[in-house]
Amino acid sequence: MRIAVVKERTPGETRVAATPDTVKKIIALGHAVAIESGAGIASSITDEAYGAAGAEIVADAAAAIAGADLLFKVRNPLPEELAAVKKGAGVIALMNPYGDKAGADACAKQGVAALAMEFVPRITRAQSMDALSSQSNLAGYRAVIEAAHLYGRGFPMMMTAAGTVAAARCFVMGAGVAGLQAIATARRLGAVVTGTDVRPAAKEQVASLGAKFIAVEDEEFKQAETAAGYAKAMSAEYQAKQATLVAEHIAKQDIVITTALIPGRPAPVLVTEAMVKSMKPGSVIIDLAVSQGGNCPLSKSDEVVNVGGVLVAGFSNLPARLPADSSALYAKNLLAILPLLTDKDTKGFSPAWDDEIIKGALLTRDGAVVHPSFAPPPAPAA
Ligand code: NAI
Repeated sequence: MRIAVVKERTPGETRVAATPDTVKKIIALGHAVAIESGAGIASSITDEAYGAAGAEIVADAAAAIAGADLLFKVRNPLPEELAAVKKGAGVIALMNPYGDKAGADACAKQGVAALAMEFVPRITRAQSMDALSSQSNLAGYRAVIEAAHLYGRGFPMMMTAAGTVAAARCFVMGAGVAGLQAIATARRLGAVVTGTDVRPAAKEQVASLGAKFIAVEDEEFKQAETAAGYAKAMSAEYQAKQATLVAEHIAKQDIVITTALIPGRPAPVLVTEAMVKSMKPGSVIIDLAVSQGGNCPLSKSDEVVNVGGVLVAGFSNLPARLPADSSALYAKNLLAILPLLTDKDTKGFSPAWDDEIIKGALLTRDGAVVHPSFAPPPAPAA
C-alpha cells in the first residue's frame, strides 16, 4: 500500500510521523512511502535523508495524500488534509479523541478508518505501539529540564569555597509514565525528590527511583487501582485528606511537577491557589495536565504565570520540545502497529478488525464513530 506522511501544521507541532529508519523498514515490508517536502525539518530530518531511505518526496500535502491507502500523522488531520483522503483509506494519529469529538465526526463523514493512538490498549503485546507512553516519558524528562531552566537556583547540592548551595526540593504528583521519568530526571540532576500517586503500586516504583513516597495510605488508597492499571476517581473525603497532606508538603518545595490524570476525565485539581501562594518566591510549578484543565487552576496553556514570584508553567506539548527523539519513538510506535493494518498477502490496507488492539484504537469505520467511548446511550427500556 501507499503510505503518506505530511508536515504537521498544528501550531507548535514539530514532530513528524516517520523517520528515515522507519521509512526503510516500511519499504522493506513491501509498501511505498510518499513524504511531503519539508515534513521532517522541525525534527532535523532532511528530504535527502528520507529520499535516501527510499521515500518519494512530493511537493505538498495534497500530492502526498492523493492515492494513499494510509495517512500517518502525529496530530489529528486538519480539514483540508482529511478532505484529500480517499474513502475507505486509513488515518492513524494522536486524534485527541476526548478533546476533539468533532474531529472523529469529520473522519466518519469522510468515510475513513481513523485510529487513535491514544486508545491503543496498554497491554503487553501493544507496548511497542504505546505512543502515550513513548511521548509521556519524554514529556516527564522535558518537564524537569523546563523547571530547571525557570528555577533561579541549581538542582544539586554544591559545596564550594564560597559556600554551600542547597539541593532543590522537587515534588512530582502523579507517578505514571511522565511522573516516573520526571522523578528519575530530577534525581539525576541532584534534587531531593518526593512523589505521590493514588495507586498503591506507585509507592514501590517511586521508592525504586530513590524518591520518597508521600500519600494518605488508608483503605480507599489500597483499592484505588482499576483492573486496567489506571487510577480510580477518589472520594471527596480522600481528596480532602490528600489536600491537607499535600498542602503541608508543598509549602516546603522548590519545584512541583504535576502529571495526575484519569483518562477521559478533567484533570484532578491537586495544587490550589492557596498552595501556590504558600510556596517561596522563585519556586516553579510545571503542570503537565494543562490541556485537561490542569492539576493547578492557575496554569495557562503555553504560558508561564507569575503568582507572587512563583512561576506556574503549563506547556501543552512538551514532546514537541524534543522533536528528534519524540518523532523517532512515535514513528516506531506506528511501524509496530502497521502489520495489524496490512493484509499479509496483498500488502493492502486491511485492518485486523477483530484484533483487540485495532478494536481498542479504532475510532471510525464505514461512515460511523464506532469507539465504545462514544457509543450512543442505550435506548430507555420500554
Ligand atoms: P499515566 O496514566 O501514566 O499517569 C497518570 C498518573 O496520575 C497515574 O499514575 C494516576 O494514578 C495518577 N493520578 C490520578 N489521579 C491522581 C490524584 N488525584 N493524585 C495523585 N495522582 C493521581 O499518564 P501519563 O502518560 O504519565 O500522563 C500524565 C499527564 O501528563 C496527563 O495529563 C497527560 O495528558 C499529560 N501529558 C502532557 C504532556 C504535555 O506536553 N503537557 C505530554 C504527555 C502527557
